[in-house]
Amino acid sequence: MGGILSLARLSFVPLLLALIAPAAADEPAPVWAYPIAPKEYVPPRDDGTMRHVPDSAKGYTLTEIRDLFFALDWFPDGHAPMPAVVAQGHRPDFRPCGVCHRPEGIGGPENASLAGLPAAYLRRQIDDYRRGARTTGVKERGHVFRMIAAMKELNDEEIDQIVAYYSAMTLLPRVKVVETTDVPTSYIPNWYYTSRRDGTTEPLGERIVEMPDDEENFINRDFRVTFTAYVPPGSVRRGEDLVAGKEAERIPACAGCHGEKLKGTDSIPPLAGRSPSLIVRQLYEFKHRLRNGTMAEPMQENAGKMTIADMTAIAAYLASLPPS
Ligand code: HEC
Ligand code: HEC
Repeated sequence: MGGILSLARLSFVPLLLALIAPAAADEPAPVWAYPIAPKEYVPPRDDGTMRHVPDSAKGYTLTEIRDLFFALDWFPDGHAPMPAVVAQGHRPDFRPCGVCHRPEGIGGPENASLAGLPAAYLRRQIDDYRRGARTTGVKERGHVFRMIAAMKELNDEEIDQIVAYYSAMTLLPRVKVVETTDVPTSYIPNWYYTSRRDGTTEPLGERIVEMPDDEENFINRDFRVTFTAYVPPGSVRRGEDLVAGKEAERIPACAGCHGEKLKGTDSIPPLAGRSPSLIVRQLYEFKHRLRNGTMAEPMQENAGKMTIADMTAIAAYLASLPPS
């Protein structure tokens, strides 16, 4: 019986898949831009030690650092007072914005920088996420859905406070782009890549691998941590050409809409100096209509003819530009 069933399954499954698979599915998401904590990942135990970062008088344990309902703040004097919804959450579903995006709005390759995003853009994204018009290319990225759940709890006044807080900030430079064929052998302990630090290398291939330069302070969520983005040889130059409109019949120039030096306008986001993994994810998501917000249409068009290699080159070049 079991034998007949599995035979039947074997012959029908490919046929079924061929019938139901939508055309867009033939370009799988570039999963390398969406690092995910492996299921078997066990975070190191908290031994109770107070952790510190340079120049801050504060101390937090690893358990506090990992608490997704409380945005720890090493430098409270370094930014405007955080609105309550940025700083403090509550169970079961409200994780505050500052816990993932940091009090300084710098974010990380695992999410997005919010510092200096135009107020109108920020407001529109919050609205798009809440309405289900914006999602992610890899459904296992739980943090996106945790954020959407939190956003659904916001009232209008809280949204105003968040938008005012993050849009007034300046995004600091912190990504160094390195073209290379080989990278330090990496692994994904959580939602980011890091080096195994065993002296070995692995081929980069057609990926971008973005790693914190100081992993301990990245875990501590020190906003000053810098990142190295390893990108394929030649991609910065190739990206520069595409961004400038060298193949405008396929990919239009970006500055016309994204502003001088790609630093954004009052409603269109800046691109310069942002995390290249974030940029690749967004271009893929526009192309595949996973970003369907009220103003997504021009980008769905612009990314429509991009290959993943084009996206990679564009992201490499954009990351190499100064953000401010
Ligand atoms: C659990 C972690 C987490 C929390 C909490 C969180 N976010 Fe996010 N946020 C993310 C991730 C992950 C992304 C997606 C990045 C991507 O698309 O690749 C994101 C993306 C965004 C974006 C898109 C930025 C862009 O450039 O388009 C905005 C805006 C945003 N978040 C605002 C917020 C606000 C406001 C809050 C608080 C209500 C919040 N987030 C809370 C993880 C989080
Ligand atoms: C016709 C105008 C237009 C052109 C040309 C254009 N963009 Fe955009 N872009 C937009 C708009 C509008 C948005 C905001 C979309 C939204 O709100 O959903 C956007 C958003 C983006 C985002 C999302 C950023 C974030 O923070 O999530 C990326 C990435 C992006 N564009 C890349 C590019 C690149 C690369 C080019 C050139 C190849 C380009 N855009 C050309 C209008 C344009």
